[in-house]
Amino acid sequence: MNRREFATCSIAAAAGVALSPRSGYAADTFSTAQIPGSVPDSLVNEARFPEGFLWGTATASYQVEGAWNEDGKGESIWDRFTHTPGKVRGGVTGDVACDQYHLYAQDIAMAKRLNQKSQRFSISWPRIQPTGVGAPNMKGLDHYSRFVDALLAAGIRPWCTMYHWDLPQALEDRGGWPNRDLANYFADYAGILAKHLGDRITVWAPFNMPWAIAFMGYAAGAAPPCRSSFSDFLKAAHTLALAQAEAHRAVKAASPQATFGSAYEMAPAYPKTDSEDDRAAAARYHAMNNVFFLEAAMHGRYPKAFVGEPPYEMMGFKVGDEKLLYAPLDWVGFHYYTRRIVADASKEKFLGGGNFSGTEIESNSPGGRDPYTRFRAAMPTEGPLTDSGLEVWPRGIYDLVTQISKDYNHPIIEITESGCGYLDSPDEQGRVPDTRRLQWYREVLAELARAIADGARVRAYHAWTLLDNFQWAEGYTERYGLIYTDFRSQKRTIKDSGLWYGRVAVSNRLDV
Ligand code: FCB
Repeated sequence: MNRREFATCSIAAAAGVALSPRSGYAADTFSTAQIPGSVPDSLVNEARFPEGFLWGTATASYQVEGAWNEDGKGESIWDRFTHTPGKVRGGVTGDVACDQYHLYAQDIAMAKRLNQKSQRFSISWPRIQPTGVGAPNMKGLDHYSRFVDALLAAGIRPWCTMYHWDLPQALEDRGGWPNRDLANYFADYAGILAKHLGDRITVWAPFNMPWAIAFMGYAAGAAPPCRSSFSDFLKAAHTLALAQAEAHRAVKAASPQATFGSAYEMAPAYPKTDSEDDRAAAARYHAMNNVFFLEAAMHGRYPKAFVGEPPYEMMGFKVGDEKLLYAPLDWVGFHYYTRRIVADASKEKFLGGGNFSGTEIESNSPGGRDPYTRFRAAMPTEGPLTDSGLEVWPRGIYDLVTQISKDYNHPIIEITESGCGYLDSPDEQGRVPDTRRLQWYREVLAELARAIADGARVRAYHAWTLLDNFQWAEGYTERYGLIYTDFRSQKRTIKDSGLWYGRVAVSNRLDV
């Protein structure tokens, strides 16, 4: 089931949703009238971003690089998964993807043409350590060294995610993330990156979407290594939180100029009704899905994500781990795609999980998504859906940014990913008039500008993504790029949204 099919199933869940009333602007100023959740043109036209705001895009190694077995690279869990028949839509792989391993100079030139100032990319761990441990593979390091030099030469800030899901298969064979030893292996790897690239990269984040790594891979079985054990999920989450902090220390030790942050998935959680139970369930969702790893880093503890006491024993939590978890971030990075409606399920009998689709995980099953958090989370369908099946809800980014800003004492914030999947392709003139994507960005960015105007210290926005790429288990059936990729010829065509985003980047306004 992909996101769209799932969304159709969740219409029932959305009915009866009781959201708190909109605030901040009057409903009668809507010009895109009648589209629930849409933003008035006046807000778009008046939006301004601060001087020096960092406009960027985000990518991930496995989704764009290809060259899956070149220059000494080891096998990753995504190589294993995509090479297993029946796992990916259309039976495709990321063996070639956008071939960016070879075509990076051209892609960076296109980013420059779009006036980009920041490129979030990820490094493939098995290119650096083919089995996840031991001496680095210099050919892998050399590749990223050239890549970073090319970004700097183009005036683009290199922003490095150390891990965007492509675990060396050899480490999965040693037990994967539920094995606590991986925290130290990861710290070694982080130290290697900082030692060799830290003279030029100063912006680091350990994990893309740590909650998803743990839950999708080890509880939902929806992504590699496709295990279905709630206790493995909890153990994996704890190892990832430890690894986040160990990597923080390793990076800072190897590179004095390093700054360390995050790339968390977040979705604002609204209670399904105003009942105390639903409000408590929405708070648990926020604690588990949005700030679990943030709280661990900032305060050395886990937030109240569970009904009752946290299952410390199940997590493999040891005395003294609080100290190890603590690693205050220099800035806070998180994604925005859509929102969630959350209902309590703690009074029902738990029957075992829910429906899982793509990178978005929902649950409508009795008793909730897992035996510990006991809520049901659904993506409503009140607003229109993108072609990838996610609800368009611009207001969510305002609510999320202002909440994180308030709860964490006004940190510097970077939006690490934000975007929408639409399938527009080149017309006869070779133009890609992707008006829905352009409108999505106009409205989401207008809401972000409003959060900034209200005091949030947001310094960067990374659109997901620079160019259409391999979209995980959905293969090549979803397109999130500002640039269209023809996967047969590797020809790139800048979409209308990309041209517009390039103008936004020089003017810091949206009415361009
Ligand atoms: C996010 C992932 C990213 C991409 C987008 C569409 O959840 O981090 O790699 O697939 O979804």
